[in-house]
Amino acid sequence: MTVSRRSFLAGSAGVALTLGMPARAETERLVAGKGVRQLLPDAYPATSLWTYDGSSPGPVLRFRQGDRLRRRFENALDQSSTIHWHGLRLPNEMDGVPGVTQDTVPPGGTFDYAFDLPDAGTYWYHPHDRSWEQVGRGLSGALIVEEPEPPEVDFDEVLLVQDWRLTENGEIAEDFGSLHDRSHAGRIGNWLTANGLAAVERRVGRHARLRVRVINAASARILRIGGEGVNAVIVALDGQPLRSPEPLTAPVPLGPGARADLIVDVTAEGGEAAFLYHLERDGGVPLLDLTVDGDARTSRLGPVAPLAPNAWPDLALGDARAVDLRMEGGAMGGLSHATLGGETLSLRELAARGKVWAFNGAVDMHERPLAEVRAGETLRIRMVNDSAWPHAMHLHGHHFRQIGEDGTAGALRDTALVAPDGRAEIAFVAERPGDWLLHCHMLGHAASGMMTRVRVV
Ligand code: C2O
Ligand code: CU
Repeated sequence: MTVSRRSFLAGSAGVALTLGMPARAETERLVAGKGVRQLLPDAYPATSLWTYDGSSPGPVLRFRQGDRLRRRFENALDQSSTIHWHGLRLPNEMDGVPGVTQDTVPPGGTFDYAFDLPDAGTYWYHPHDRSWEQVGRGLSGALIVEEPEPPEVDFDEVLLVQDWRLTENGEIAEDFGSLHDRSHAGRIGNWLTANGLAAVERRVGRHARLRVRVINAASARILRIGGEGVNAVIVALDGQPLRSPEPLTAPVPLGPGARADLIVDVTAEGGEAAFLYHLERDGGVPLLDLTVDGDARTSRLGPVAPLAPNAWPDLALGDARAVDLRMEGGAMGGLSHATLGGETLSLRELAARGKVWAFNGAVDMHERPLAEVRAGETLRIRMVNDSAWPHAMHLHGHHFRQIGEDGTAGALRDTALVAPDGRAEIAFVAERPGDWLLHCHMLGHAASGMMTRVRVV
């Protein structure tokens, strides 16, 4: 009998898997390209979108703490792109910022990313070239770094939330770059998905315990994550364990880019509803829909223990330098003029160039970093939101702590939500040399002026 390779592969996956194992030296790839997915209910057409390795969201990249990530990024799009590894501590030249840390990757080009993963936690990856369009078309994926001893749970669920703006033909609306969006809350969509689905559905046994990693990959929408039929506890924010886990008594706000790790104990009995949802003004949008059936655990898992912390340098707040960052502009703001590339322009002139936001009176503070610090030095940034819109300020390559009015340092974060007319002081220890972006993660805001960098020397 002759066996063709085709029927061999189809008939004996186990053996084929062994035979087909890539040679050790073979490079793993991550390919940005185009694809199609049924995002809306079946009565609507499928959506043409942009993918990593053929899917949106892209594959969940899972590692163990201390592993090395190696991926050859291949750009099969018809515009240039890069990959930014959001929330990770890595060498500056691996940070994926075109024109700052690397040359952009043209269509057909490749770039090899390789770096160690010192911190366990929930992270994600997305393009940093025209991210306001590329993320909105589907380019994002989860990156999970597992603890050496993960907490005992029945399953570990990643929920990557995307906010799509779709037409009734199921097409992605082609209004990227709208100045109206940029000067307001950003490009808010009209269809939320979790892992590309209206909601992730799971069957669980009674009293099951799950770990859920919520990632806000929306371009602009602030999520408010709540639970029903469950007892949920926040164990980590932006990938970093909380010293003491916090019960989820009210929906937790997550700005674009932010993550929350929850330990979720199912309290609903069979036939009762159990959900994790996003709370919108007009009600909850389910993201994880749990159906309780099957046997109860024989023993409850007890109180939720904190996750083991990653190793971070201590803040030296006492003699730290402080710089101010004033966010200005947008609709209903008081900005009349700002500088752009050395020129002072009126808001109208700025708008003609697609710019509506400024930091400290400067649009795209690209030429001059906000601050230059030595590695090992603590920097405080006093942010004042002098605008009518919330902003989600993200720092690359570092986590910071928010400093309270009373001087106490909060949890480690990489994205801080700053309310309209609000303020937030952050402090962090500069680690690796290079230019690290600090920008609003409402991606249209970043593209229209809310972008600066911190230089570490
Ligand atoms: Cu998640 Cu500068 O980005
Ligand atoms: Cu913003």
